[in-house]
Order: sequence, then structure tokens, then C-alpha cells
Amino acid sequence: EQSMTIYDAIGGDKTMSKLVTEFYLRVEKHPLLRPIFPASFDEVRERQYWFLTQLFGGPRLYMENRGQPMLRARHLPFPITKEHARAWLGCMQEAMIAAEIIEPAREAMMQRLTMTAFHMVNTDS
Ligand code: HEM
Repeated sequence: EQSMTIYDAIGGDKTMSKLVTEFYLRVEKHPLLRPIFPASFDEVRERQYWFLTQLFGGPRLYMENRGQPMLRARHLPFPITKEHARAWLGCMQEAMIAAEIIEPAREAMMQRLTMTAFHMVNTDS
């Protein structure tokens, strides 16, 4: 029996693209998150698309384009608090709904991302 990945279950590339687009539309408007990001979201949007595709069982796009994720290290230049992690997750939750990702995939994805988001926290203030 072949096991289906979350990536397949949500509709693959089309849904993943939509998710990432919807996510950064929200990050872009978020008063706490906006200032941490560079002026343009173009690069991070593409890299996040590679990362999430790979994380949820799709093609290993991040590895091919960026190598080892080392995400915590890549986030160290940016001061990230627990409040930022919560805000990031709030944008992601809304983006999942906008991308019409339904249960049980949504809950499974949010659980995984919650761990990752709090792992990025690197400062108290
Ligand atoms: C890059 C912020 C959590 C995945 C970045 C960048 C910032 C940022 C400022 C750099 C953007 C740039 O240089 O263009 C945050 C904040 C987070 C957070 C405030 C709150 C906790 C996460 C999580 C993930 C993630 C949970 C994964 C699920 C990525 C990826 C990149 C990135 C893949 C691009 C890394 C690269 O290849 O250079 N993030 N991030 N981030 N973030 Fe986050």
C-alpha cells in the first residue's frame, strides 16, 4: 500500500502556492511581523514555498535550491520573540483557511508548524 503525504492530500503544488501567497499577504499587513522582514517578500515567499513543499512530503525543493534548512541559524539575524511566533502562526492559520486546507490536514500542519515556530524564538524582547 502506498502512503499519501499531506502534500498530496491537500492538493499538491496548487494548494501549496496558494497557501504561501495568502500567508505573506497577511505577514505583510501584520504590524509586529512586517518590520522584521525586508522590503520585498519575493525571495522569502519562494523559499518558504520550497520549504513547506518539502516539509509536508512533496518534492525536496528546499534541499535542491538552498541545501540544509538550518532554519534556526538562518533566523538568528532577526530578533524573534514568542509574540512573533504566535503572530506568525496566526497568519498561517488564516492562510490555511483561505487556501481551503481542511481537517485533518490543517491540524496536522499547524501542529508541526507550531513546534517549528517556537523553535525560532531567539530573544525575550
Ligand atoms: C526566512 C521571519 C518562522 C521558514 C525568514 C526571514 C525572516 C523570517 C525575517 C528572512 C526573510 C528574507 O531574508 O528575505 C520569521 C519569523 C518567524 C518565522 C518572525 C516567527 C516565528 C518561520 C517558520 C518557518 C520559517 C516557523 C518554517 C515553517 C522560513 C524560511 C525562510 C525564512 C524557509 C527562508 C530561509 C532561507 O532559505 O534563506 N523568516 N520566520 N520561518 N523563514 Fe521564517
